[in-house]
Amino acid sequence: MAGLHKSDIKNPVLNWIDTRMPVFTMMEKEYGSFPTPKNFNYFWNFGALAMVTLAIMIVTGIFLAMNYTPNTEMAFDSVQRIMRDVNYGWLIRYVHQNGASMFFIVVYVHIFRGLYYGSYKAPRELLWIIGVALLLAMMATAFMGYVLPWGQMSYWGATVITNLFSAIPLVGTDIVQWLWGGFSVSNPTLNRFFSLHYLMPFVIVGLVFLHVVALHITGSNNPLGIDVKSPQDTLPFHPYYTVKDSVGLCVFLAIFAAIVFFAPNMLGDPNNFIPANPLQTPADIVPEWYFLPFYAILRSVPNKLGGVAMMFGSIAVLFVLPWLDTSRVRSARFRPIYRPLVFVLVAAVVVLGMVGAHRPEGIWVVLGRVATTYYFLHFLVILPALGILEKPLPLPESISNPVLPRRGGGGGPLPGGVPAAPMEKP
Ligand code: HEM
Repeated sequence: MAGLHKSDIKNPVLNWIDTRMPVFTMMEKEYGSFPTPKNFNYFWNFGALAMVTLAIMIVTGIFLAMNYTPNTEMAFDSVQRIMRDVNYGWLIRYVHQNGASMFFIVVYVHIFRGLYYGSYKAPRELLWIIGVALLLAMMATAFMGYVLPWGQMSYWGATVITNLFSAIPLVGTDIVQWLWGGFSVSNPTLNRFFSLHYLMPFVIVGLVFLHVVALHITGSNNPLGIDVKSPQDTLPFHPYYTVKDSVGLCVFLAIFAAIVFFAPNMLGDPNNFIPANPLQTPADIVPEWYFLPFYAILRSVPNKLGGVAMMFGSIAVLFVLPWLDTSRVRSARFRPIYRPLVFVLVAAVVVLGMVGAHRPEGIWVVLGRVATTYYFLHFLVILPALGILEKPLPLPESISNPVLPRRGGGGGPLPGGVPAAPMEKP
């Protein structure tokens, strides 16, 4: 019949569907035979791990929502009931709670991979930008989710963070009251946060879809950061990377399970075992670990508006990163100055995380300011300058070249795929 897709799928039922809507052909093309660089290392597992974690979060979240009550009088108790009376409620909640941390660990490693191997550079700028939008969406979701159990830290964290908007001149107070739906964090706030916390994961699913569409149009980057030149440089995604991703997934799930079963409250705050009390401010209001670096940037600036601007600025620089890094070479392996500096950036972010967990006193103030300064210098000054100042190492001619035996003996893999000497011409 004219206009119908001619499907190669053997199973008659699937063939019937595929002829009318070629979803199986599409899946085969995008996840079966999809040509994928042959030199991926385990850093390339983390996108798939993020997808699996997102699915786990949605499934556990749906079951939690069946038993949760978004009302300030009942929220805390409904969570206690989930933990004690609902069948496997403790398991569902601990998986969801620790899943948020696992999700951020995975995505932070995923971002580090992108920074190290220059995956944000042309032609993958849009893919990267969608990634940064995903990070923002994840942060908003996690923030609102943390408010739902209505413990002390839920309430006071929400109060501190929503109050930041009051720093905006003229309209700040109006915006904060509009966010609250009242004159403080209260029942309307809890209700809308619950509604949005349920909605946002599906926005994230939509963004992930666009992220993967953008990825499959440009194709993946790889540890050498050079373009795929010939079919010899690639492998079909299945079975090579489905298997490799499965290996990583097993390790990931083992670590995840170990935390859930042996240390489920390791990352939580004891204050959240106390029901929210608007009349009693906790001695320290500390966000979840994954927000600590941003919290530290916020507090490193003595001026409230300045702090808020810098905090949002720390994410905003990521949006324009593809244009701040002017080097032609993608992978840090071939960038002798950039390579150590990525680790300095990581160290600065870790220091910021530690600063965020401590009271802003003494050495922590100094460390916070030094690390904040480095963070912005790295993106706004060092990266643009390196494009001019740095002399990259010679790049391999192709992905296959460093891993296939070379003509004239001396074959075999070169350590890490880095060319020891300028590459031989075949
Ligand atoms: C919900 C969160 C996210 C999910 C589910 C996700 C998923 C994926 C998947 C499945 C891939 C392909 C596999 C891989 O290369 O690891 C990928 C690639 C990529 N992602 Fe993400 N991602 C997320 C967040 C982010 C964020 C926050 C960024 C950056 C700020 C980002 C930037 C990239 C880049 C640049 C690539 C291409 C990497 C390459 O080809 O070398 N992603 N992502």
